[in-house]
Amino acid sequence: KSNTMWGGRFAAGPDAIMEAINASIGFDQRMARQDIEGSRAHAAMLAATGIITDSDAEAIREGLLTVLSEIESGTFEFSTALEDIHMNVESRLKDLIGEPAGRLHTARSRNDQVATDFKLWVRDQIDAAIDGIEALMKAFLKQAEEGASWVMPGFTHLQTAQPVTWGHHMMAYVEMLGRDLSRFKDARVRMNESPLGGAALAGTSFPIDRHMTAEALGFDRPTANSLDSTADRDFALEYLSAASICAMHLSRFAEELVIWSSAQFRFVVLSDRFSTGSSIMPQKKNPDAAELIRAKIGRILGATVSLFTVMKGLPLTYSKDMQEDKEQVFDAADSLMLSLAAMEGMVSDLTANIPALEASAGSGFSTATDLADWLVRELNMPFRDAHHVTGTLVALAESKGCDLPDLTLEDMQNVAAGITQGVFDVLGVHNSVNSRQSYGGTAPDQVRARISDWKERLK
Ligand code: ARG
Repeated sequence: KSNTMWGGRFAAGPDAIMEAINASIGFDQRMARQDIEGSRAHAAMLAATGIITDSDAEAIREGLLTVLSEIESGTFEFSTALEDIHMNVESRLKDLIGEPAGRLHTARSRNDQVATDFKLWVRDQIDAAIDGIEALMKAFLKQAEEGASWVMPGFTHLQTAQPVTWGHHMMAYVEMLGRDLSRFKDARVRMNESPLGGAALAGTSFPIDRHMTAEALGFDRPTANSLDSTADRDFALEYLSAASICAMHLSRFAEELVIWSSAQFRFVVLSDRFSTGSSIMPQKKNPDAAELIRAKIGRILGATVSLFTVMKGLPLTYSKDMQEDKEQVFDAADSLMLSLAAMEGMVSDLTANIPALEASAGSGFSTATDLADWLVRELNMPFRDAHHVTGTLVALAESKGCDLPDLTLEDMQNVAAGITQGVFDVLGVHNSVNSRQSYGGTAPDQVRARISDWKERLK
């Protein structure tokens, strides 16, 4: 038996394999709420413009609420034969209210309908991501505030570089997440135009009011070109791109947590709530949540590449290829939201091992740059010469098996005669970080100033 929605010209129904490859109801039922919201707005507009009667619109709008409650309570029976959420909803509406249901699809196509539903869904996810990112930023801010003056090693090449403050390191992630936040907000502004009323592709001969439906659905305006409206999936690509960048940031901190929580580093203790044990090694406490967050970028970026690949080379306007957009976005959105929530929990629960951080901050000749800077400042040495002198002192300390502050004044003077006792002041890690007062530098005062900037912005 052929499809009741489009089967007029068909003598036979689809092969079972055809039905399996064609149906999207298995996943697009996640857009049920958006579909019904869009249809309710469309019906109200059809009545307001005199295209259908008020009583038909009323019956449609009421019936759609019943369908929604059936779906939300889990009593709705989804049918693969009805392909997708759009036809499942409409078909059930017909069971419920009869003839008026058939008028809902006037001046509309599944092509503008699916673009509208999907945009509404993605827009909700953008809002959720914004909330999730802000919550995580607040967790980082709290860590930063607590440890604004704790010292730790800063790394380049994962080799000790210069001492930094814990607060400064935490605030680096606040900056990254702040850019993520603005990317999502920015994408939201650009995508917020309603495709509804683009119809199949060319617009419609019915006197519809696209401004009315746009407003009802919280869009800023209708899209300006019906071909573009139904063919566009930029909004999903922008969402995925922003999600990928954000997931990449989360992955970097996740990696740091994995390293920092190891027995070799002992920089942090992860809470039991976000760790797991081993079934064979009783001593183990594994950073599984961090590892999974580190990995999630794979799925999210994978979804991004996948949708770009689906969309590239597609002629205007709608092609069924575009049905392959949803699962990717759904999976990416779930992965992102779960990662944000797990990361927020881990950051909130994170305990820094302050003595271990401080001890590590002073090792590895981390204040060599401070020594070179001192030679420039106090002895008026050209920086290149100061660099060389300091390098010689590092080699000396290395050969003696000690750190820079452990060298004697005599050791120092043998390399550069003018060095005085004052040099030892800058070899301490606290003096080192306190001296980095340049805007955006690691000095605790600077870090505290950035913390209050961000607290103000997140209010
Ligand atoms: N299930 C389809 C999708 O997800 C809806 C649009 C179908 N339109 C069409 N003309 N076949 O893209």
